[in-house]
Amino acid sequence: MQTLTNKRILLGITGGIAAYKSADLIRRLRDQGAEVQVIMTKAACEFITPLTMQALSGKPVHIELLDPVTEAGMGHIELARWSDVIVVAPATANFIARLSHGMADDLLSAICLVAAVPILIAPAMNQQMWLNAATQANIQNLAARGIILAGPASGMQACGETGPGRMLEPLELVAAVNGLFETRALDGKHVLVTAGPTQEAIDPVRFISNRSSGRMGYAIARAAQEAGAEVTLVSGPTAIPAPERVKYVPVKTAEQMREAVLAQAAKQDIFIAAAAVADYRCAEIAGEKIKKTAADLVLTLRKNPDILAEVAQLPRPPYTVGFAAETTAVKENALIKLRSKGLDMIAANRVGDGLGFESDENSLEVLWDGGTISLELTSKDKLARQLIDIVARKYNEKHPPQSY
Ligand code: CTP
Repeated sequence: MQTLTNKRILLGITGGIAAYKSADLIRRLRDQGAEVQVIMTKAACEFITPLTMQALSGKPVHIELLDPVTEAGMGHIELARWSDVIVVAPATANFIARLSHGMADDLLSAICLVAAVPILIAPAMNQQMWLNAATQANIQNLAARGIILAGPASGMQACGETGPGRMLEPLELVAAVNGLFETRALDGKHVLVTAGPTQEAIDPVRFISNRSSGRMGYAIARAAQEAGAEVTLVSGPTAIPAPERVKYVPVKTAEQMREAVLAQAAKQDIFIAAAAVADYRCAEIAGEKIKKTAADLVLTLRKNPDILAEVAQLPRPPYTVGFAAETTAVKENALIKLRSKGLDMIAANRVGDGLGFESDENSLEVLWDGGTISLELTSKDKLARQLIDIVARKYNEKHPPQSY
């Protein structure tokens, strides 16, 4: 079972002998489904070659801050935005000191300063350096800023001394990275998600559908599962595999989706409707394949039930989150939908011009009665995790955990 599917990890390698373990760390992270991009300091290149790291990560290694070629490809700002997490392993005493002081004179430290994602550091150094008051003060400073410390372990060191300062083993670091994605924000909650398009049959071989890939809904299901929820995913036909550890209910038509959702709705705490449900179905489905004899073919379409609105109108509805795809006046139109359907929250995106359905990236305007948050253009996976964080926060405000 892969635990880091679709996670984007920036691995910073600084100049310590433990850099050789980082080669194995890349493989272990990729084994878990993560995408890894490597940034090396100049000193790190003295211990292990960028070529090794490039071969293992399958991507170019980034070293220079002021390299016109690299900056033209994926510059330091884009790299920081690309990542879900930054892992610095090994982190030397020197790098820790520089990070602590907010230096930005090489690529790795500049990225750490730019990044709005969690940073995890795995110190590796001689035990005296680790125990030195200066290093300890720097570590405390970093901890106060929310930088996460993994290790160091105690034991035999490369310099022949014994004590604290060994970098954690690659598998221990993978476990620490896994831990970063498990927020527990929805621990034990039941979350129902719809995703993908629906297909409405015309005859035995043809149907009406839309361009929804299902990626956003699947990413939401995965993010909710990682936040500790028991997730049911009701999905129209897509080309992507069902997320692991999620109850998967495949459907084809809007009516089947409605039935599956209503059968589950009563036991759910949260309902997130990310599916692009076909608004209309054929009033009559031809029993036989329609022959192309007529010059014009007229199909009568009948409106499908609005599953989201129906769930929101249940006597005891779950916390209900809808989506809105808009080409203009995104916020205004979304607000109208929020109110008319009686939703708790709506996530609106701008579609058209290459945005939305078939793209890997998206941005969202999240609105509820009395508030709004803009989530900037990023991968659908990252967006899903940000959305789940907001949903969890608003859900808990509406249903404060019982205290005894
Ligand atoms: N939805 C649903 N059942 C439908 C239609 C839509 O559950 N029959 C849900 C979608 O999953 C999504 C939201 O409702 O969460 C979208 O609402 P909709 O009114 O269809 O908005 P748009 O797709 O933006 O379409 P339009 O503005 O054209 O009405």
